[in-house]
Amino acid sequence: MLAPALDTLRLTLHVLAATVWVGGQIVMMGMVGPSRTLGPGATKALARAFARMAWPAYAVLVVTGFWNVSTFHWSAQSGAWKAVLIAKVIVVAAAGLGFLLHARSTSRVGLAVWGSLGGVASIAALVMGVLLAG
Ligand code: HEM
Repeated sequence: MLAPALDTLRLTLHVLAATVWVGGQIVMMGMVGPSRTLGPGATKALARAFARMAWPAYAVLVVTGFWNVSTFHWSAQSGAWKAVLIAKVIVVAAAGLGFLLHARSTSRVGLAVWGSLGGVASIAALVMGVLLAG
């Protein structure tokens, strides 16, 4: 049986935004090195261009994430499902914070630490999403 139209829209938006937020960070890892050869401002310009796409994607993830939650009956969900959902909300907040601090960081250590936190937390959120979808 096919998914109803509204569920298709909700999950398509959620997964599409995840591809931009998570996939974009992975692609950026591969772009940073080559961008350094294009001039002193190239890496910063690339990072800013990605941030302009990533933040709207993050907002779509949060809005459609709560929309996802609203489609489940809380009392019918297992303790494990609820625990994963609560962990996911924390991990999503950590992903946003890591990305924000990474963007504001001026030191190499700061960029590496906050970038890694944002990236690992984003992938953890993705895995938890797959677990929640069942
Ligand atoms: C970095 C942010 C996020 C990422 C990368 C992400 C990723 C995903 C992915 C890949 C799925 C699986 C979709 C599927 O297989 O159909 C999913 C499902 C889900 N996500 Fe997220 N998500 C994020 C944020 C959120 C937030 C903030 C919430 C809740 C407040 C949330 C709640 C859910 C729920 C409940 C499902 C299951 C949906 C269903 O089966 O109908 N997500 N997420």
